[in-house]
Amino acid sequence: MSDTPKILVTGALGQIGSELVTELRNRFGTEQVIASDLRAPPDDYNENGSFEQLDVLKPDQILAINEKYGINQIYHLAAILSAVGEQKPQLAWNVNMNGLLNILEIVKNGDVQKLFWPSSIAVFGPTTPRNDTEQFAITEPTTVYGISKLAGERWVEYYHDKYDLDIRSVRYPGLISYKTKAGGGTTDYAVEIFAAAIREGSYTCFLNSDTVLPMMYMPDAINGTLDLMEADEKDLQIRSSYNFNAFSFSPNQLAALIKNHIPGFTIEYAPDFRQKLADTWPQTIDDKYAREDWKWEQQFDLESMVSDMLDKTKLKLLESVE
Ligand code: NAD
Ligand code: SER
Repeated sequence: MSDTPKILVTGALGQIGSELVTELRNRFGTEQVIASDLRAPPDDYNENGSFEQLDVLKPDQILAINEKYGINQIYHLAAILSAVGEQKPQLAWNVNMNGLLNILEIVKNGDVQKLFWPSSIAVFGPTTPRNDTEQFAITEPTTVYGISKLAGERWVEYYHDKYDLDIRSVRYPGLISYKTKAGGGTTDYAVEIFAAAIREGSYTCFLNSDTVLPMMYMPDAINGTLDLMEADEKDLQIRSSYNFNAFSFSPNQLAALIKNHIPGFTIEYAPDFRQKLADTWPQTIDDKYAREDWKWEQQFDLESMVSDMLDKTKLKLLESVE
């Protein structure tokens, strides 16, 4: 591979992309990273560097951008998440599946040497053991999003085995961050709660108080993703998608930790259709292959995540009123 990566990020305006692009540019240089999304950048978009409006359902557009910039790595993040997926199942299947297949074909036929594509804990379902869920546990998802991620895992492993493509993947748990709004997932409550706690001192949660889910703070997710991409290929034994985890908690536990910082904070519960999705996902994940193969280790535990999220969310809210 060329020593200088030229990287395309799809879905770059989303919750992960907006932070991944910044970190990739810090590491490899602003001009080495091309951000792209179906949407145009918002007015307050403050990333320097190239941005291209790109629909991953249009292979010609992907090809044109690849050729224009001489892309040799892709982070393919464009997708429809679980909650939106249940409301728009055809769209979710189309974007998640055909978008991935378009990218895989372009990698197969072109000069891209490494591809990152994220899967999710949503590949698991109601028949999966819910605690310490293992890498090879039963995967019988009942959500469109989970079905598309499971099919995606099968496809990336197939393209690796059949065409020797270097594709790397993790099953992200729910990701917590302050920079960009969460994009329509079932774990979004654990993002929204922080700004609500600071602004209003209260939050109405769309999941039940005792719904435990696996979660991770965004800085760890970004570092882990880049560690996997830098890992020696010979150490990687999972070519579908690695279990990847930091900690687990329920809304009730998260609210108690926020109360330690904001004593008057109150939470109410009004579970909606997302409860049904969350009830099919694991509570805790065994990610031993990630820890063994590419030495995955998170920096943030639950308490330090809460403290950092509150600090950074406060700053962000202050900036937005200035
Ligand atoms: P997000 O919804 O915040 O961002 C997705 C982006 O994709 C959006 O900016 C959207 O405009 C774009 N997009 C949608 N359709 C597109 C199309 N046809 N062409 C190009 N762009 C399109 O999602 P995210 O949270 O940043 O997630 C990124 C990836 O990580 C997804 O594959 C998601 O399934 C996966 N993931 C996320 C989480 C999480 O908690 N955030 C957890 C597990 C897996
Ligand atoms: N956080 C994601 C969602 O809730 C899990 O993949 O959709």
